Amino acid sequence: MASTTAASDRPVEDRTVSKVAVIGLGAIGGVIAGSLAAAARHDVVVCVRNGIDRLVVERPDDVVDVPLRALTDPADAAPVDWVLLCTKAQQTVSAAPWLVRLCGPQTRVAVLQNGIRHTDRLKPLVGAATVVPAIVYYNGERLGVDRVRFRRAGEYDLAVRDDIDGRAFVELLGSAPMRILQSDDFDTLAWRKLLINAVANPITALTLQRQAVFRRDDIKALCLAILEEAAAVGRADGARLAPDEPEQVLATLLTYPPEAGTSMYFDRLGGRPFEVEALTGAVVAAGARHRLPTPLNGMLLTLLRAISDAASERSKGDG
Ligand SMILES: NC(=O)c1ccc[n+]([C@@H]2O[C@H](COP(=O)([O-])OP(=O)(O)OC[C@H]3O[C@@H](n4cnc5c(N)ncnc54)[C@H](OP(=O)(O)O)[C@@H]3O)[C@@H](O)[C@H]2O)c1
Repeated sequence: MASTTAASDRPVEDRTVSKVAVIGLGAIGGVIAGSLAAAARHDVVVCVRNGIDRLVVERPDDVVDVPLRALTDPADAAPVDWVLLCTKAQQTVSAAPWLVRLCGPQTRVAVLQNGIRHTDRLKPLVGAATVVPAIVYYNGERLGVDRVRFRRAGEYDLAVRDDIDGRAFVELLGSAPMRILQSDDFDTLAWRKLLINAVANPITALTLQRQAVFRRDDIKALCLAILEEAAAVGRADGARLAPDEPEQVLATLLTYPPEAGTSMYFDRLGGRPFEVEALTGAVVAAGARHRLPTPLNGMLLTLLRAISDAASERSKGDG
């Protein structure tokens, strides 16, 4: 950790200042809100369920400790230039009251969530605002209520479409230390990410084992079969996936440290609902759209839904 920088120590640059609202201050939202606040160029507010006034972000090259302006009641929110939606996909509907208040016709809503078809998912909730889908490559981890860690997991931290809205997103984050890929084949990248998630998350959550489980030969064979099925669906959906994409995905998984977990694994340990519909559910739904059978992914979906629904029921009972 090289240094600690307080945002208030830095001069505000004389460039366009955007009003930015970050919904969801978890692993991904914490990293991006903290980094934007540290850059001190834009007017940033975080929309949260529990109040917070500072956040520490441990980044690859430094640690920043920034003051945050937080809202806990959607009634206090007003339209902004940018909404960065950083909840889990299954929590999107619960964020609708924020979206109603924050979105106007000029607003762009960047969706920092896993899965595909971000625009279809968000369009009914954002009125006339523009949806800007993003792929998140960086690794975020919540270390405490007011502390997150940002780890780099590859060449890029985020990807967006190479269009006017994607370029505006790159401009927005220009002051934050984020490496953003602008792609003219975003849908292929989204499917590639979905393939990794469609094996890494279900297998670790169902076996209750971390990445080490992918070193087993029988699990490797099962993953390849799941991936062949999902890649065929992805190709039918328009993704330009390589003939050996399943082998490449498995090879990528085997580069992850054996002790690393996945988000669904940690959600199972914590007894929380899974982000299942946006991952395995998206593969099965795309298979149905293209009339392709998905028996393996369908079986995973049934098992994951059963566990996730039981967790939802328990949390309702606790509440
Ligand atoms: N973490 C990673 O490394 C990573 C990497 C790539 C992609 N992703 C994707 O990024 C997305 C976000 O994941 P994450 O890991 O950041 O999840 P997370 O740590 O669980 O954060 C989600 C946050 O959203 C908040 N939230 C949920 N509903 C809300 C609402 N109605 N109003 C306000 N806040 C709300 C939660 O608040 P509470 O704290 O009150 O529960 C939580 O702080 C997911 O789609 C995930 O798959 C994550």
